[in-house]
Amino acid sequence: MEKPFVPVAFVEEIPIGQFRKVDVDGRSVIVARTANGVFAVEDLCSHEDYPLSYGCLDGDRIKCSLHGSRFNLATGEPLEEPATAPIATYRIEIADGRIWLDPTVPDKRS
Ligand code: FES
Repeated sequence: MEKPFVPVAFVEEIPIGQFRKVDVDGRSVIVARTANGVFAVEDLCSHEDYPLSYGCLDGDRIKCSLHGSRFNLATGEPLEEPATAPIATYRIEIADGRIWLDPTVPDKRS
């Protein structure tokens, strides 16, 4: 895998239905594995900047444990209030059994 992608975990280290919090250039990122693939999103709820890593996965969504908003892991879009803004998503590639992440700071919430 060529730059800008960097390895963040082996695929087998993250069971389906679970996520891992990784540090990427000083930023906390959630790398989640679901039945539909691997996703990476910022570890920050768009509602009150609460860590999403305190929450849990719900299929292809991550649920904030503070007020319950869920976000689509693929798009970052919130699925219900109180959050109304999306969270940032990161590009992922799978190669050689590893999860590679593009650490380029993604477009922030629109
Ligand atoms: S801080 Fe996440 S829903 Fe309120």
